[in-house]
Amino acid sequence: MSLLEAAGIYKSYAGVQALKNVRFSLAPSEVHALIGENGAGKSTLIKIITGAIQPDAGRLTIEGHTIDQPTPAGMKSRGVAAIYQQPSLFGHLTVAENIALALEPRTPFAKVNWSQRRTRATELLARVGASINPDQDAASLSMPQQQMVEIAKAIGCEAKIFVMDEPTASLSDKEVDNLFRVIGELRAKGAGIIYISHRLEELARISDRVSVLRDGELIATKQRNEVGREELVHLMVGRDVSAIFPKQKVSAGDTVVRLRAIKAQGIGPIDLDIRAGEIVGLAGLVGSGRTELANILFGLTPATSGVIEIRGKPIAIQSPQDAISAGIGYVPEDRRRHGLIQEMSVAENTTLAKLPPGFLNFAKEESTAKEFAHRLGTKTPSVDTPAANLSGGNQQKVVLSRWLATKPSVLLLDEPTQGIDVGAKAEVHALISEMAREGMAILMISSELPEILGMSDRIAVMSEGKLAGILNRAEATQESILHLALPCKRGAA
Ligand SMILES: Nc1ncnc2c1ncn2[C@@H]1O[C@H](COP(=O)(O)OP(=O)(O)OP(=O)(O)O)[C@@H](O)[C@H]1O
Ligand SMILES: [Mg+2]
Repeated sequence: MSLLEAAGIYKSYAGVQALKNVRFSLAPSEVHALIGENGAGKSTLIKIITGAIQPDAGRLTIEGHTIDQPTPAGMKSRGVAAIYQQPSLFGHLTVAENIALALEPRTPFAKVNWSQRRTRATELLARVGASINPDQDAASLSMPQQQMVEIAKAIGCEAKIFVMDEPTASLSDKEVDNLFRVIGELRAKGAGIIYISHRLEELARISDRVSVLRDGELIATKQRNEVGREELVHLMVGRDVSAIFPKQKVSAGDTVVRLRAIKAQGIGPIDLDIRAGEIVGLAGLVGSGRTELANILFGLTPATSGVIEIRGKPIAIQSPQDAISAGIGYVPEDRRRHGLIQEMSVAENTTLAKLPPGFLNFAKEESTAKEFAHRLGTKTPSVDTPAANLSGGNQQKVVLSRWLATKPSVLLLDEPTQGIDVGAKAEVHALISEMAREGMAILMISSELPEILGMSDRIAVMSEGKLAGILNRAEATQESILHLALPCKRGAA
């Protein structure tokens, strides 16, 4: 019997048919991947399965029981657990307390058995292979560690259906390996896993079946070994996608950014130059200091010592305002939190950085927003729609558009295509390449080595807060990057 059946699911939001007559099933011991372009309806479908939103029509059954009114609590009690891309732990509570909260019935008079709580937490963390101290505050955990705590919570609740929405988006390769091992174990114990990802190469490693959504409709459900990557892309996009890395050859101009002995807490000293027209890829493991370096350059965490020169002039970057007036633009990694003003429209968000404060030119705003929405294929009913109503990937396209529209002289990109579908990825890469050709100096952080190798003129590799080395485009390979990125390589005897 299926663990889960969804049939005839419909859902519409004002002006958008997010799901149309969708059918989906999950068998015990199955990893069923769900793929599709940004805005295809993936998150909407799993929100219905977790009870977070109600479908307009359709039927959900779990192990043969029809669920009449799906609610989060009801679906949880039927064994559905969601592991979101942004974990939802209470930062000020310890890991053990977070796990306990998920497992224990919440009665006001229940006596708290501390030692039992700790033992249970330790046991569950061991099952996911996480070496995490249960007494640590959840706020001090890294993203991948938080994710493991979420999975430990779900295992503790005896979940049978694990829903994972882009779980690997900000994990390093090693962390991905660990996640896949845990998924393998869950599956071996009979659980079913719904797995959403834009990284198609992952699907071959873990999924049994793949379902493709396009514009809210189920296009196909296939055995993974029956379809190749190209066919999947075709099913998703409805056309062939050729060059994902259309890097143009650009001869580098004058040095735009010059960093000398830059230091901040846990970072540096760092020396790095970026020339006009150059794309410098910044590689390294999660936690190696890549984002911190970008934050220093954008004045979010100013350097404590060292010199930053822009076009030969030393400047003090103490705040984002300083950075913006020096011509620096920044597309941060956590765009949902830092990049986007949810209440404002797509058009307002696109031109936010471009127009001087207090200067509103509605006609111009609208045409710029329309142009970029068209180029990146941003799916939105109109440019006047609030950004909050867009799917995750489409929100990212809006933030990216804003900085591409500003044409700064230095552009810092942190994981520019994270969460962006394959079709749009090619377009984002083409745009980045074009910006470089126009003379922008670009620093691009990415955890995807093919993206780093495909797009960069030079590759700076960070390890434990320092620059472990800089490779030229011609000499760089996945191996040479990893060799520099892995801290153990140098420390080990
Ligand atoms: N709260 C909402 N209000 C209005 N429209 C919404 C809302 N949530 C989602 N939508 C719309 O529903 C459609 C499907 O969105 P969904 O989030 O399911 O896409 P997705 O496949 O998860 O995309 P992504 O890969 O970008 O995360 C999109 O067109 C989106 O704009
Ligand atoms: Mg989504």
